[in-house]
Amino acid sequence: MKKNILKKIRAIVGDAHLTTAREDLMCYSYDSTGMEYMPTAVAFPGSAVEISSIMELANKELFPVIPRGAGTGMTGGSLPIQGGLVLVMSRLNRILEVDVENQVAVVEPGVITGQFQAAVKKEALFYPPDPASRDFCTMGGNVAECSGGPSAVKYGVTRDYVLGLEVVLPDGRLMHTGVRTAKGVVGYDLTRLFIGSEGTLGIITKIVVRLLALPTHKKTYLVLTDSLRQAAMLVSEILKRGILPNTLEYMDQTALHVVREYLSLELPQSTRALLLVEVDGDENSTEEQGKKFLGMLADRRTYPGILEVRQAHNEKEVDDLWKARRSISPATYKLRPHKISEDVVVPKTKIPQLVDFTEKLSRELGIIILTFGHAGDGNIHVNIMVDKDNQEEYQKGQTAKRLLFEHVMSLSGTLSGEHGIGITKAPYLSLELDETSLALMQSIKSVFDPNNILNPGKIFSTKSH
Ligand code: MLT
Ligand code: ZN
Repeated sequence: MKKNILKKIRAIVGDAHLTTAREDLMCYSYDSTGMEYMPTAVAFPGSAVEISSIMELANKELFPVIPRGAGTGMTGGSLPIQGGLVLVMSRLNRILEVDVENQVAVVEPGVITGQFQAAVKKEALFYPPDPASRDFCTMGGNVAECSGGPSAVKYGVTRDYVLGLEVVLPDGRLMHTGVRTAKGVVGYDLTRLFIGSEGTLGIITKIVVRLLALPTHKKTYLVLTDSLRQAAMLVSEILKRGILPNTLEYMDQTALHVVREYLSLELPQSTRALLLVEVDGDENSTEEQGKKFLGMLADRRTYPGILEVRQAHNEKEVDDLWKARRSISPATYKLRPHKISEDVVVPKTKIPQLVDFTEKLSRELGIIILTFGHAGDGNIHVNIMVDKDNQEEYQKGQTAKRLLFEHVMSLSGTLSGEHGIGITKAPYLSLELDETSLALMQSIKSVFDPNNILNPGKIFSTKSH
C-alpha cells in the first residue's frame, strides 16, 4: 500500500487509529483457525462516515479492506489473505438504544454479544443468540456469520433477530435495510442477504434487533449414556414428544474428557456421552416441560443405554456445566496442537448415522475426532485433531474432512450451520451448491463489489488453506 494512501487513511481516522507497526499487525493477523496472514495496515474507525470515506478511497485505489470483529471466527472470514487494510470495529461499541416497550434495540457492530445480553436482561428482555464465544465475540461478527449457539434449538439464530441494518457498501455509499417493526415486506430482503455474507458485500455499522421477554425460570438436566448412539437417538425422541428445550447439547467421551476439570460431578466409569438439556419459560411451563422430560426417560426399558438422569440443583452446578460446555472448543488443543473444526448439520434423525461415521473415520484413519454441539438442531461440531507439522497426520485430517462432507451431503445435510465458509470450506462449496446458485451468488458479489476489494478471496475461492 503506497505511503500517500496510508496518509489519506490516517487523515480519515486520526493518527492514533491507524497502525503499520509489525507488532500491532501481528495481533490482527489470525483468528480461531490459528492461520496467520499479515495485513498491510490496521485501522480503528470511529464512525460509519469514516468507514464510508475509507471505502471510497479503497474503491478508487483498489486495495483490499477486511472488516474484523473480535477475530473469533472459525473459518478464516476475517483474515487478510491478500494483505490490505484490516478495519477493526472495536471503537464502534455502543448500545445506541433499548426500546423496552417495542422490544427493539439498536447496537453498533463492536458491541460484545454477552455484554449486550446482560444489558437487556436488566430491562427483563432477552436476546437469545448465544455463540460459545459470546463473552468476547461481537454483534457485527455474529451478523456477518449468522452465528448460532445452544439456544438455537428453541430460539433460532442471529438471522431470526435482526430487523434491519446500516451498511457501508464497497464503493463507500451508506445504506439502510429492513425495518424496526415486527413485520415488513417492502422490496427484496437485503437485510437477510447481508446476514451471513461474511463481510463480502458491505460493512455493517448499525444493527437493529428484536428482543423477547426474559424467561423467568429454567431447569437444567444431564443425561449420561453408555453409548454415543443412544445419546444421539434420544435427541429426536425428546423433540418428538413435544418437549422444546432451550438447550439440547451433547458431548462425546473425548469432549467430556477435555473439560473434565470444570465438571464438579462424578461420572460413572462407563459414561460415553452426555446430553445437556435445559428447559425455560415461566414457572408453569418450565415445570410442565421438566415433568414431561423426566417422565419420558423414567421407563429405562425403552432407553436401555441411559446410565443416569440428573438435575442440576443449584446455580453453581448449572454454571459449571455451562463453563464446561463453552470451554470444549479451546480445551481440545490439549489433545493436538491444531484442529480442523467443522459445524455440519444433518436432519436430527440422522445424527446416529453421523456419529457412527465419525467414530469409524477416527478408527480407520487413526486420528482423534471428537464430536459435540447443538444436537437439538442436528448441528454437530466435528473436531478433527491434528499436528500440522506432521504431514501424514495433517493429510489424514484433510481426508477425514472431505469424507465427512461427502457423508453429510449423502445424509441430506449442509456443510455449515454456524461458522460459515470463509477460506477453510471454500474449496468444498460445489459439493452443496449447484452451478447456477454458485454463479448467481458470484454475480451478486460483483454487483455489490465490482472491483473485488471487500474481503476478497472468501467463500468462492477454490484455493486450499
Ligand atoms: C461451539 O459451539 O462450541 C462453537 O461453535 C465452537 C466450535 O465449534 O468449536
Ligand atoms: Zn457451535
